[in-house]
Amino acid sequence: MSYNLLKGKRGIIFGALDANSIAWKTAERVHEEGGTFVLTNAPIALRMGTINELAEKTGSQVIPADATKIEDLENLVEKAMEVLGGKIDFVLHSIGMSVNVRKGNAYTSQNYDYTHKGWDVSAVSFHKTMSVLYNKDAMTEWGSIVALTYMAAQRVFPDYNDMADNKAYLESIARSFGYFFGRDKNVRVNTISQSPTPTTAGQGVKGFDGFIAYAEKMSPLGNATAEDCANYTIAMFSDLTKRVTLQNLFNDGGFSNMGVSTAVMDKFTE
Ligand SMILES: NC(=O)c1ccc[n+]([C@@H]2O[C@H](COP(=O)([O-])OP(=O)(O)OC[C@H]3O[C@@H](n4cnc5c(N)ncnc54)[C@H](O)[C@@H]3O)[C@@H](O)[C@H]2O)c1
Repeated sequence: MSYNLLKGKRGIIFGALDANSIAWKTAERVHEEGGTFVLTNAPIALRMGTINELAEKTGSQVIPADATKIEDLENLVEKAMEVLGGKIDFVLHSIGMSVNVRKGNAYTSQNYDYTHKGWDVSAVSFHKTMSVLYNKDAMTEWGSIVALTYMAAQRVFPDYNDMADNKAYLESIARSFGYFFGRDKNVRVNTISQSPTPTTAGQGVKGFDGFIAYAEKMSPLGNATAEDCANYTIAMFSDLTKRVTLQNLFNDGGFSNMGVSTAVMDKFTE
């Protein structure tokens, strides 16, 4: 169903790798709601993924950018305004990667070059993106910026490894930069904290299958899907949420406020 929530709005969507990506589902929903956008991803992901399919389907252009490189981001923002014909109303940062997770290093024995790389890709890239948008004055008034995060920023999930620390940093950047973006440009900045979701990044985390099943049993509404996340993001891009800013918004079926559920208790009393 379409509500035309984003009619006439222009945006940039980072992080659509394949049809499972949360950014992919979001791009489809933004398109349905009448928004136009450019898609972007790291050059390597453009070669490995299937983003051109999405571009064709949504009538959008793909502009490569490694989100850790300022010059790539500057080129992206300039080209996006050219292609879309004006300033930017909405931005989705949907980027995460830990080399320590990929290489199977334990949280307690990290390779710190990998730690640094993962932090740059997963957290600092959000600061870099916002700093380019801010300094180029590329956002429209009452624009909206969203980054995706996970509750391991607040609570311990051992296998989430150094991504937990990256997400804590990412959420802090949203608040700190959100202050300046709000004060100076009337732009809102929020993070959406999403349930575990079966994507390339999600499934890279050790024990993902057990974990997603556990979260499902703990959450009164069950896990939020990638489509649910896309819908929430649409609402955050729309004019219906104009004064929501500096928030970490849980889209998790209630998981974050649960202690225990009867479904989980039953497992232990069998
Ligand atoms: N899947 C989950 O369980 C889950 C839960 C909560 C939050 N999230 C977050 O959602 C976001 C999207 O992840 P996803 O689950 O859709 O997985 P995904 O693997 O489909 O998306 C991750 C994206 O990050 C991109 N990326 C990596 N390095 C980059 C770089 N240097 N420059 C630009 N892009 C780069 C990848 O190419 C990919 O498109 C991430 O921030 C992730 O941490 C995921």
